[in-house]
Amino acid sequence: MTQHELPAGAKRSLELCRLVGARPQFMQVPTLRAALTRRGHTETLVHTGQHYDDAMSRLFFDQLGLPQPDVNLEVGSVRHGAQTGRMLERFEAFLHNNRFDAVVVDGDTNSTLAGALAASKIGIPCVHVESGLRSFDRSMPEEVNRVATDHLADLLCAPTMTALLRLGQEGLGSRAVLVGDVMYDSFRGFMARADRSPIADAGVQSGSFDLMTVHRPDNTDDPERMGAILASVAATGRAVLFPVHPRTRPAIDAYLDGGGSLGGVRLLEPVGYLEMLGMLAECRHVLTDSGGVQREAFFAEKPALIFRETTEWVEQVELGWSLLVGADRGVIAEGFDTIETLDGPAPDHAAIYGGGRAGERIAEAIEGLLL
Ligand code: UD1
Ligand code: UDP
Repeated sequence: MTQHELPAGAKRSLELCRLVGARPQFMQVPTLRAALTRRGHTETLVHTGQHYDDAMSRLFFDQLGLPQPDVNLEVGSVRHGAQTGRMLERFEAFLHNNRFDAVVVDGDTNSTLAGALAASKIGIPCVHVESGLRSFDRSMPEEVNRVATDHLADLLCAPTMTALLRLGQEGLGSRAVLVGDVMYDSFRGFMARADRSPIADAGVQSGSFDLMTVHRPDNTDDPERMGAILASVAATGRAVLFPVHPRTRPAIDAYLDGGGSLGGVRLLEPVGYLEMLGMLAECRHVLTDSGGVQREAFFAEKPALIFRETTEWVEQVELGWSLLVGADRGVIAEGFDTIETLDGPAPDHAAIYGGGRAGERIAEAIEGLLL
């Protein structure tokens, strides 16, 4: 049946293409996908291949009950310009050979930018989920990806009021809509299935350990920063569970080869999302430079130290619940003292991050754009 033959008032079924590729994008897929399906639309999942280890990719599709992606562009790990270029070339070819009503991209990785560029070259609308975030640090590859993607995309889905206001300040307000954070939707939706097994496996007690992740190039590619972070955490003597991103492993090895100590820090392989939720539920504090994990700490009502000087997720820092401690030993030590004093329920995360309805609101906004 063509669009012209639809009964009056009936909505056309949309064919969307969701481009993902890096770990933090996979857990953002389920709620929007479910909302689109409920509305009678279909979503084809394309994976760029930016992340490819089982523990960085396949595991998430299994745990989240998602089908494996329909297509994998298999770009792999190469320098970021080449990686983005390969994605653009392969995704443009895919879009050229298939018909979609729109491309949906998430976040701020090279996969995000390549998806927005390819959609614009082919001339189909692009939806940016997690739009309007700014750290104002152009040395971060993600900041450039965010700004460029926002200026290319046709529908800008802002997760927070701060992000929405920022888009307005950049002259993009007419394309922007406040939807909430799909990561918050997933956190709420999957917490009931959290897997706490890594805690016992590592021999630590629930409620008595901190959860740590580090993977920003600013930290991993600078031995001084990485050394300061590891030495500061080790010096506390705390039990810390640290699932290690593959980018970070060589930096830790170099620190240990140079005589550095890990104290009570237990290194783990990268874990699945459900294991991560289990550790978030049971830890005391979170120590991280991850965009996703700093938000999840807030959702789980755990005070956090953030090993960065800036963040695009400003709300919880402004509320004093997360502390930007960079990679300075003195500041990190003070941060540990401060988070000890933060106890009890965190400020209202549901109000800030959209109450778990972001997927539904994005589906509604996509219909508003296309139907
Ligand atoms: C990317 C994103 C970053 C995001 C992070 C999430 C960009 C510019 N960066 O950073 O925004 O926070 O993903 O985790 O898009 N590697 C493996 N196996 C894998 C994937 C990567 O061993 O499955 C190793 C490779 O040595 C690779 C390195 O990790 O060179 C970095 O991977 P890459 O995708 O380039 O960037 P990330 O640091 O993962
Ligand atoms: N995460 C995970 N396993 C890990 C580390 C992180 O499942 O070993 C999850 C984490 O809970 C969050 C997402 O990955 O949902 C964040 O991804 P990452 O830290 O790689 O990227 P960022 O959010 O910084 O872009």
